Amino acid sequence: MTTTPQTSSPRVAIVTGATSGIGEATSRALHAEGYRVLLTGRSQSRGEALARELGSGARFYPADLTESDAATHVTEAALAFAGRLDVLVNNAGIDHTGDILSTPMEEIRAVFETNTFGTMAMLQAAGTVMKILGGGSIVNVTSRLASIGVPTMSVYAASKGAVLALTRSAAVELAPHNIRVNAVAPGMTRTALFDEWVAAQPDSEAAARSVAAGIPLGRVAKPEDVANAVLFLASDRAAYLTGASIPVDGGYTAA
Ligand SMILES: NC(=O)c1ccc[n+]([C@@H]2O[C@H](COP(=O)([O-])OP(=O)(O)OC[C@H]3O[C@@H](n4cnc5c(N)ncnc54)[C@H](OP(=O)(O)O)[C@@H]3O)[C@@H](O)[C@H]2O)c1
Repeated sequence: MTTTPQTSSPRVAIVTGATSGIGEATSRALHAEGYRVLLTGRSQSRGEALARELGSGARFYPADLTESDAATHVTEAALAFAGRLDVLVNNAGIDHTGDILSTPMEEIRAVFETNTFGTMAMLQAAGTVMKILGGGSIVNVTSRLASIGVPTMSVYAASKGAVLALTRSAAVELAPHNIRVNAVAPGMTRTALFDEWVAAQPDSEAAARSVAAGIPLGRVAKPEDVANAVLFLASDRAAYLTGASIPVDGGYTAA
């Protein structure tokens, strides 16, 4: 039986990268489902604005997950806010485009610091608390690029591929503690990250059109599409899923 511990009090979730895009949409969706949500990210203004809008069921705690102990502080902030922890949405991430043969190692390290090590640190901090509390659900946001090859995306893809591998092994290791670990693998999603990528292409409009044309469902994802899959994996409806990765890519990786 793998469910989060039963109690009458509202469930509590941490969402990293809650200050924009997929994390913001996921925070709104969890809040609408009755979760108490600890929002975290680096932008104080965007984080506090979202917490204000959501009201008493949400709190913002600013943190840069590349800093040591940040994950512990975020987890402590969730406990101080809501007294328990049921769900971690490990979503914070940065994009990277560059030729693999010439990307400086320090740039590679910076991508891994956020996408991989920040994710691992949050899994460790939140997982430790969940183990003590009797269970929980962790959802890692990876990428379609964890599973397919695309030129100039090697560094980003490797940072997300590591998180996919982490998802599988941590799921097996933490199953005896009633902690489920799953992933969502978004395809192109209409967020600031996507808009920046489009803007960086030589012909932005053509790039946006060609992306949509290459997706079986004919459009890029909305952040809410990804949030819905996260919501499912976080919930007891997914009680028998662990170590799984759900592609949320309009059929891109199936084609
Ligand atoms: N958009 C896509 O097409 C797409 C596709 C596949 C996967 N993804 C993944 O989905 C996740 C969310 O992406 P998004 O598109 O929603 O991007 P986004 O709008 O740029 O949001 C990224 C979030 O991560 C936070 N973040 C970045 N570095 C951080 C750090 N060092 N410490 C703490 N927080 C940090 C940002 O916080 P601040 O802004 O406050 O610094 C922001 O809230 C990422 O992991 C991304 O790789 C996105």
